Amino acid sequence: MDMEDLFNRSIEHKAQFWKEQAGEIRWTKFPEQILTDGENGYPQWFADGELNICHLCIDQHIEDGFGDQPAVIYDSPVTGKKSTYTFSQAKEEISKLAGGLISLGLKKGDTAVIYMPMIPQTLFAMLACARIGVIHNVVFGGFAPHELVVRIDDCKPRALITATAGIEIARRIPYLPLVEKAIELAQDKVEHIIVYNRHLTENRHELFEGITDYEDLVQRSEPADCVPVESTHPLYLLYTSGTTGKPKGITRDTGGYATALKFSMKYIYGVAPGETYWAASDFGWAVGHSFSVYGPLINRNTTVIFEGKPVMTPDAGTFWRIISEYKVSVMFTAPTAIRAIKKEDPDGELVKKYDLSHFRKQFLAGERCDVSTLDWFEKHIGVPAIDHWWQTESGWPMLGLMTFDEQYKIKRASAGKPIPGYDIKIFDENGYELDAHHEGYLVIKLPLPPGALLGIWNDHERFFNSYLSQYKGYYFSGDGAIRDEDGYVFITGRVDDVINVAGHRLSTSEMEEIVSSHPDVAECAVVGIDDELKGQIPFATVVVKNGSAISEEALEADIVKMVREKIGAVACLKNVMTVKRLPKTRSGKILRKLIRTLLDGKDFQVPSTIDDEKIIEEIQEKIQLYRSK
Ligand code: COA
Ligand code: AMP
Repeated sequence: MDMEDLFNRSIEHKAQFWKEQAGEIRWTKFPEQILTDGENGYPQWFADGELNICHLCIDQHIEDGFGDQPAVIYDSPVTGKKSTYTFSQAKEEISKLAGGLISLGLKKGDTAVIYMPMIPQTLFAMLACARIGVIHNVVFGGFAPHELVVRIDDCKPRALITATAGIEIARRIPYLPLVEKAIELAQDKVEHIIVYNRHLTENRHELFEGITDYEDLVQRSEPADCVPVESTHPLYLLYTSGTTGKPKGITRDTGGYATALKFSMKYIYGVAPGETYWAASDFGWAVGHSFSVYGPLINRNTTVIFEGKPVMTPDAGTFWRIISEYKVSVMFTAPTAIRAIKKEDPDGELVKKYDLSHFRKQFLAGERCDVSTLDWFEKHIGVPAIDHWWQTESGWPMLGLMTFDEQYKIKRASAGKPIPGYDIKIFDENGYELDAHHEGYLVIKLPLPPGALLGIWNDHERFFNSYLSQYKGYYFSGDGAIRDEDGYVFITGRVDDVINVAGHRLSTSEMEEIVSSHPDVAECAVVGIDDELKGQIPFATVVVKNGSAISEEALEADIVKMVREKIGAVACLKNVMTVKRLPKTRSGKILRKLIRTLLDGKDFQVPSTIDDEKIIEEIQEKIQLYRSK
């Protein structure tokens, strides 16, 4: 069966199609209700099914006789450590940690925040929660305390699982002072702080009072069995940037997600059980959830946990070393990682050191991939680089290629065709479908397939307003796109205030809130400008208050510090330019797109609604001055 047949069946006979796919995973109660209207009319999959996803990831493989297969490989060039856990060893640790969580009083339906680096204990913590129906929320380790506070206040965790430190190349990032600060600032008390001591150079005094030691907890606890949960039980919350300062708690179900991931591993990634599959993403992002943990483990693949960077740990050959050492057959990363490698190793000299004969396919997502990066990859690595598109909200790819069928055809710069289940259309402003080669809004006809978001945690109104209110009966993706005559889709970028910095999704509105809070700032606009390495980086254009004597340099230094402290270094806001005034429409709206175009030095059309055209020249002059600093 080819991609087109699968796609057509998934749209025309959706219930039957997904019932068959659900049959590919094990349920404690197979669903009779396949597709129903959930709360508030939003479609729900497999409502009366029951299962446990930790069982699918771990226990079922042991029951099937694969207990000795490596489940998890940990490779940490930043600490010089490597280790492997078989499915049986992983079960031992996960089930005891789950028992430990029960002994602390956690139960199905509670929430737990996991704020940890790229170590196996993070994966164990996620699966221990899933084992007993505790809803986890993994917070990217690069986020500052304020981001942790927002999440704690929204999902009210009973436990926070963390580690003593992360490592950024050679820099140790102590987590506990960050956690301590977050706990101090959070509205509600978190009952249990569980800390994995990495025994790096920590001193006992760093561990504050009242914490539970992760290893003690595991050692003293009895293993817990998997608790079957309803298919629609939230497996996790994953906060992502939206168009306001407050991140959205994307809520994921259990049964639909497991079904979609099993489908993805087979049809999209074309990877067979038993092979090694590596998604080089942090656990804190959607890719880390779906394709470092749940997808490969459900499919009985060995997954790789890499604690390092694509470059400098120790060099730009580190990805190829891992692929060769662990016989990785399929890999997934963000284009920015390949760009970083290409910059360091333009002639692919480091690639030649490694045997990549097991490597079949490279998947890329998270941001647009430029053609020169694809060219470099294919020339030096010699395997297909396959772009595909998805979002935290979908949890699995929406555009891509079904590479299980070796006839798949890549079109450069396209993220592929709609994946089965995703009835993708490109609409104009008024909701009319556009013909090929016309740019518009990428929308998806409801119902979304299994695995896509259940909603936004505790905020149905925001869920409705963010995704369902723009075009009745359609999901609004927030991305612009063009389709060609063969059905391939080209993503043109976000149509809202979300930007992607080195594959990290961030909100410019959130940054604007921080910049505006500076006492000398009257108003500001933060936009994402093009960056050769990171794809996009934020740039702040600021109007200072009348009478303020602050210099541009001092203001820039203050703002850079404030953003680092509130969001984290990953925000990468390093440029702040002062202007006399911001370009606005006659009704007073800031023309952010115009500012972005001017900063990128691209051709532009003067917006018909602009209040005063002269401001364009003013800003262009200022940009020249700023750039020549
Ligand atoms: N904890 C603490 N700090 C972190 C961090 C973490 N987990 N992750 C990043 N940071 C810090 C970095 O140290 C850096 O700090 P600095 O400004 O003081 O130097 C800052 O945040 C920016 O980090 P990053 O954007 O990662 O830039 P980089 O120059 O360190 O690395 C890349 C550039 C391209 C190599 C890196 O961004 C990368 O590997 N990106 C891929 C992202 C990815 O996999 N995304 C998932 C989607 S598939
Ligand atoms: P995230 O939710 O962090 O996965 O970010 C999702 C956003 O990243 C999308 O809405 C897109 O704007 C962007 N994105 C993801 N994959 C691609 C891709 N293959 N090409 C272009 N943009 C992408």
